[in-house]
Amino acid sequence: MSRQTDEVARRRTFAIISHPDAGKTTLTEKLLLFGGAIQAAGAVKARGEQRRARSDWMKVERERGISVTSAVMTYDYAGKTFNLLDTPGHEDFSEDTYRTLTAVDSAVMVIDGAKGIESQTRKLFEVCRLRDMPITTFVNKMDRESRDPFEIIDEIEQNLAIDVTPASWPIGMGRHFLGVYDLIHDQLILMERTSRDGMPLEGEPCDGLDDPKLDEMLPEDAVITLREQVEMARGLCPPFDREAYLEGTLTPIYFGSAINTFGVRELLDGLVVAAPPPRPAPAAARPVAPEETKVSAFVFKIQANMDPKHRDRIAFVRLCSGHFKRGMKLKHSRSGKMLNVHNALLFLAQDREVAEEAWPGDIVGIPNYGNLRIGDALTEGEDIRFTGIPSFAPELLQTVRPKDPLKAKHLGKALQQLAEEGAASVVKPMIGADWIVGVVGALQFEVLADRIRTEYDLDVLFESTTLYTARWVSAPTDAELKGFVDSNRSSLGEDHDGDPVFLARNAWHLNKAEEDYPGIGFAKTKEHVEGGRDS
Ligand code: G4P
Repeated sequence: MSRQTDEVARRRTFAIISHPDAGKTTLTEKLLLFGGAIQAAGAVKARGEQRRARSDWMKVERERGISVTSAVMTYDYAGKTFNLLDTPGHEDFSEDTYRTLTAVDSAVMVIDGAKGIESQTRKLFEVCRLRDMPITTFVNKMDRESRDPFEIIDEIEQNLAIDVTPASWPIGMGRHFLGVYDLIHDQLILMERTSRDGMPLEGEPCDGLDDPKLDEMLPEDAVITLREQVEMARGLCPPFDREAYLEGTLTPIYFGSAINTFGVRELLDGLVVAAPPPRPAPAAARPVAPEETKVSAFVFKIQANMDPKHRDRIAFVRLCSGHFKRGMKLKHSRSGKMLNVHNALLFLAQDREVAEEAWPGDIVGIPNYGNLRIGDALTEGEDIRFTGIPSFAPELLQTVRPKDPLKAKHLGKALQQLAEEGAASVVKPMIGADWIVGVVGALQFEVLADRIRTEYDLDVLFESTTLYTARWVSAPTDAELKGFVDSNRSSLGEDHDGDPVFLARNAWHLNKAEEDYPGIGFAKTKEHVEGGRDS
């Protein structure tokens, strides 16, 4: 096996999707604990203030106690290299989450055992489904009063239209939660309640569910229920089928309690065996296979101000093929320029280090290279256009202006950068002085105002508009586009790439324009592509 095949086979690049509060942060910490990426649970268990100081860089996050930034955590476990991409949980930042999901090969869906499928779980699940992504389910908080496991399985099947197969089965719940029976390795794993920071007990291998050991180790009623329920579950659920899992039509389900580090090892072991190594990356001409020897990569996220001590911007890049080495010259497809990548960063649990090398599936951060935008490709020469990296219809529009009118130009620059980063859509109306900013969630306006204040030293005012929606305009020919633009200047603006955007005052206004100009396209979103003109 070549080194590359070997390294590719070792990679597991995944994200955790969940509704806020289901336990994603806790599970992440425990996964890192198993990965040896952190020393003792206590070191990361610090909650509240301390935890925020460590992981949430932005001031807004500290004030609001939500995690806006997302990061990458790399750790090794059982001979595999895991790249765990953190996704912000708050609804208002789902745009970022969606883009992060374009950079992973599988996902772990965390569900609160008492709450089942929640709105955000469903949304994120749908994004994974669009990409036929394999999903592993972890039902968390089994140490609390939870729903019946059959009810949870049924809810997933009904709500998400995916087959479910139990990988472990819970024994009791809430105060009576004793542990799980591992259906893959046939072992009984009991939960120790006394120490939350310690490693869980080793499982007790069993000779199937009829093993008399179970009668010795568990109370009588618990064994009876376990045997009955597993028999029923085996009758009702399909057996594990890796192909179906890889196609995203079947999810193995684990039960556990992240806070008690319980069920986490089984989940990780499951990912080691079943989760896919890097998959081919969709691109315009052909999918790019991870085994290809030339380096190719795409930017899926740009983040500013990760470290308040340094005013840096980092482009997060997913490697799709080849063997990246420090100092390599890569072609930036959009500009055609060569880029000497000598300071790419790898992200360990709590640290960053300079990447000497990286393989397909790895995520590196390229700092302070202002021209990189979401969707951009970096290659060893070939012009590749990666596809499927979404941009979202800005559903909320506000005007923004500087408190000091003399700073308008300064604001323009800040908005341009924020738009390039993907933090918001920015439109400069063809007529009028104010900028229009479009976002997906209302909280983003506050985040933007705060960032413009801290990063660009500018106080700004956001004000509501009477605008209904923004649409990217396209036409089959330049002449048709010009004709449309010339007759509709008062309803048009340009985005940060200089592409025309139609600003509709209300639904009727949009409908009328669509009727009057049947040849013109009015796109809700603009896929991030080189030049930004292909939408
Ligand atoms: P999130 O990232 O998905 O938003 O969830 P997070 O891990 O922050 O967990 C949300 C809350 O649920 C936290 O409690 C956390 O301690 C708790 N939790 C996580 N896993 C489990 C579990 O297995 N069992 C139980 N009983 N609780 C769990 P909190 O009170 O909001 O925060 P904190 O005071 O514990 O920091």
